[in-house]
Amino acid sequence: MKKSFLLADDSKPGMSRRFFMQSAAVCGVTLGISPVLAHSAAASTNQGEKPNDPVNHTQRTLGRGNAAMIVSALGFGVMGLNYHRGPHPDRQAATRLLHQAVEHGITLFDTAESYGPYTNEALAGEALSQFRGKIAVTTKFGHEFVNGKRTGKQNSRPEHIRQVAETSLRRLKIETIELFYQHRLDRNVPIEDVAGTVKDLIQEGKVRHFGLCEVSAEAIRKAHAIQPLTAIQSEYHLMWREPEKEVLPICEELGIGFVPYSPLNRGLLGGKLNEFTNFNNGNDNRNTLPRFQPEAIRQNLRFVEAMTEFGRIRGMTSAQLALIWLLAKKPWIVPIPGTSKLSHLEENIRAQAFLLTQEDIIELESKLAAIPIIGDRYPAEQQRLVGQ
Ligand SMILES: NC(=O)c1ccc[n+]([C@@H]2O[C@H](COP(=O)([O-])OP(=O)(O)OC[C@H]3O[C@@H](n4cnc5c(N)ncnc54)[C@H](OP(=O)(O)O)[C@@H]3O)[C@@H](O)[C@H]2O)c1
Repeated sequence: MKKSFLLADDSKPGMSRRFFMQSAAVCGVTLGISPVLAHSAAASTNQGEKPNDPVNHTQRTLGRGNAAMIVSALGFGVMGLNYHRGPHPDRQAATRLLHQAVEHGITLFDTAESYGPYTNEALAGEALSQFRGKIAVTTKFGHEFVNGKRTGKQNSRPEHIRQVAETSLRRLKIETIELFYQHRLDRNVPIEDVAGTVKDLIQEGKVRHFGLCEVSAEAIRKAHAIQPLTAIQSEYHLMWREPEKEVLPICEELGIGFVPYSPLNRGLLGGKLNEFTNFNNGNDNRNTLPRFQPEAIRQNLRFVEAMTEFGRIRGMTSAQLALIWLLAKKPWIVPIPGTSKLSHLEENIRAQAFLLTQEDIIELESKLAAIPIIGDRYPAEQQRLVGQ
């Protein structure tokens, strides 16, 4: 068992040291919660640490130097609590779950202006602003909306980024956005101008750190030269390993953290979905994704079954295997699984109690490489927006 370095604050509403220690024990791991988010040059050792160093399973550093940000090794994706993941808990239950995530040591929460739009940021603001300074709520700009409706275009013009920053700050009920990502590249605005605008916002104290989502290595290099990046957020999991080609290498070279989104492939790797799962309630984008069409799911379940089999003899579920595989890849990777259930939250956190050896990883990857993956991850019009 790892050494405990619990720093829970008894004065925090709804969080006692006793409860915090109990919940950590329930999880089978001990998680550290920083009394204040650390943003120091001292955090820059991140890129030199060895994979599988047990320390990396409690806290991790995204970025280096002045761009460094220390967060829990697992974050929490807030999106599905009211957007794109089907039936969702009511506001009270969602708030309770977010508080439970904080109590369990999670310090990185991910939302975006576009989730809802606006309602997911509003939920994050109402539930989490009381923990400001102790956790980071990250958000994103870049999609264009007119009268609350997505136009399908991108908008990263400097004045628009500024406007989104102001409204996100209000919805999140904070003074500084800890990490502000561009959600998708805007072909009409040079990435240097985007980076320059975020740099200005950082200097004005409205934003602390800069991130990009789903961009090419070239865009990362250009943006980083203007304003050092803290994190790249892209889809990455056992069924989508594209970032290994160019994005992870450039993150390693430049000392940028990596935040895999949809780390359970939108729930599929958790083993609870099948070809009869209904994604048609009007709030679930999985019904538009080629990999989530019934026949594709039916065939892709072979992949999940292989993970379940691999995990079973090691005492872990397929969801835990999916998360620990990501954590084992690099010490500067921080996945952000989403869930609407305390049981899944605790299961996901418990993933950190496992270690995968290099032999395990090779065995797992070669076993899975033999299973064809059916269906693209995005339909063509969404695919055009990524990797630019
Ligand atoms: N930057 C981007 O473009 C982008 C795009 C998509 C998502 N994101 C971010 O990434 C976050 C997570 O992504 P995501 O929600 O798409 O995918 P995900 O985290 O891979 O999967 C979420 C789904 O997995 C299920 N799940 C969670 N834990 C489980 C477990 N232990 N066993 C079985 N099922 C489990 C959840 O269902 P239950 O509720 O039943 O647990 C939920 O429906 C989002 O919240 C968002 O912040 C970013």
